[in-house]
Amino acid sequence: MMEIDSTKKAKQLCIDQYKKHIFLCVGPECCSQELGEEVWIHLKKRLSELKLAAPGGSGSVYRTRAACLRICGDGPIAVVYPDAVWYRKVDKDVMDKIINDHLVNGLVVEESVLAKNSDLQKEIKSE
Ligand code: FES
Repeated sequence: MMEIDSTKKAKQLCIDQYKKHIFLCVGPECCSQELGEEVWIHLKKRLSELKLAAPGGSGSVYRTRAACLRICGDGPIAVVYPDAVWYRKVDKDVMDKIINDHLVNGLVVEESVLAKNSDLQKEIKSE
């Protein structure tokens, strides 16, 4: 196994400068892998187009492609941290709402919420 200097890698990625982190499950249990991959590619493209993928900006978003978030139904499943808001049935249209409303404007997309930690909702609003 290749030795990786994790401190150096974290510094290269500016990992300490991101404001939000979105995890997206790409299936195969909660949704088809085709749908999961389609939404994942869309998420990467939109974050890049909106210049949200780079660290440091006010809306900078880190993204992670997950193999399973242990819900395994009503997918694709996504979760946004540090807000701890979980979303279900995240197709490309729902992902656009999550990006525009939640990640950019700090508004929870209530109609797509699966679960949320109410203790962490003090600084974000509902639509
Ligand atoms: S396969 Fe998506 S949550 Fe388990």
